[in-house]
Amino acid sequence: MADFISFPPNFVWGAATSAYQIEGAWNEDGKGPSIWDTFAHTPGKIYHGETGDTAIDAYHLWKSDIQLMKSLGLKTYRFSIAWSRVLPSGRIQSINPVGLDYYDRLVDELLANGIQPLPTLFHYDLPQALQDEGGFATRETACLFGEYAGLIARKLGDRVSSWITINEPMVFAANGHLSGEHAPGFKDIQAAIAAVHFQLLAHGLAAQNIRAASKQPASVGIALNLSPVYPASQSEEDIQAAIRYDGLQNRSMLDPIFRGSYPQELLELVAFLLPPMENDDLKIISTPIDFLGVNYYTRSVVRSEPGVPFVELTLVNPEGNPYSQMWEIFPEGIYNLLLGLQKDYHPANIFITENGVPVADAPDFDGKVRDDRRIQYLQDHLIQVQRAMQAGVPVSGYLVWSLLDNFEWALGYLTRFGLVYVDFETQKRTIKASGSWFSKVIAANGFIPANYTKEP
Ligand code: FCB
Repeated sequence: MADFISFPPNFVWGAATSAYQIEGAWNEDGKGPSIWDTFAHTPGKIYHGETGDTAIDAYHLWKSDIQLMKSLGLKTYRFSIAWSRVLPSGRIQSINPVGLDYYDRLVDELLANGIQPLPTLFHYDLPQALQDEGGFATRETACLFGEYAGLIARKLGDRVSSWITINEPMVFAANGHLSGEHAPGFKDIQAAIAAVHFQLLAHGLAAQNIRAASKQPASVGIALNLSPVYPASQSEEDIQAAIRYDGLQNRSMLDPIFRGSYPQELLELVAFLLPPMENDDLKIISTPIDFLGVNYYTRSVVRSEPGVPFVELTLVNPEGNPYSQMWEIFPEGIYNLLLGLQKDYHPANIFITENGVPVADAPDFDGKVRDDRRIQYLQDHLIQVQRAMQAGVPVSGYLVWSLLDNFEWALGYLTRFGLVYVDFETQKRTIKASGSWFSKVIAANGFIPANYTKEP
């Protein structure tokens, strides 16, 4: 029999969601619109014209959802705070007490059920009012984010001890400002680069303000979408293209945060597009973090493509491995990523803040959801995480994306990532086979590997 894959006694097991993807109630109780409300209401932007107006109604179902978390045995729950639900105009002068109260009660209820809250302060859903003034392409929004973070820490920091400032600044910058697939839907490289810099600045300001405003020592991190980069071939051109892409995708975030500078290979490409910087910007951005949040889904395989402006490369979908509804499945990628992070940046502490897989789940004849491919994915990735830990990488926790099936941005309700199945018509929740499996893993602090999808 295979060996038991074990994790340390205090390992943090959890699951993650984000506000726009689950809450709904987009205009209820004084919430201001966010750029995702605007974007999803624009015809042609989302698969099948779907929106997060109702999403999976977590704004109303939060109490029973916490009971689901409890029944799974989750130790921590990562959710995000909708900035415009608390501050409809984005500014601290305009507090919406009912909106703030929602998160206040959520935190209390989590703690009452033995679950640690892990809030993210920004997960793509910028208040529309701030977008109207230029959004994250401006320094002003970074400063306002810092103030918002301080306000939330003053209100919740007596009970919340761990915080994530921003989720995936690179995805927000690139998908929102360059490819236009996400809100606010721009195709403007200068805005995208400004959004990188000002989100990083916002993160640094927030880290400082959270610590200053919290009533207890606050542990602060950021969640980055990181992906190890591989050249499509061993040709010199492809190897150089892979180095360029790593600079854009990973080091553009890691270098400023851990080293206080942008990577040279990135500056060579786009320095002339950077927004005006101030002397202290990089110092603020590199304010030490307590943990690095790693969101991992797949690797990146890159080929040189001289026709492509600036980067002269393209991403390829390699053959030979299984694919999910969105990406190649490549568990060794998380091991290589973690070892590379340890070697180059020595983070004090790492949480896997997102890992999961989109699978076309459906209830079987008896109502059960047998998502064996998800179990296989989670198991195979956890094996690699544990291998990295044995090699000395300080990983303290692992959070599945996602607790519940939800609104997957431009793909609407096409994909399902949940440990819990959601009937999007009735909002009925059903724990999937993967949810039951994960629950056993948490209880045992490990598992014996098995074949869930492969032929013996
Ligand atoms: C990440 C996002 C998260 C979810 C997953 C699938 O990039 O942070 O909101 O959409 O991908």
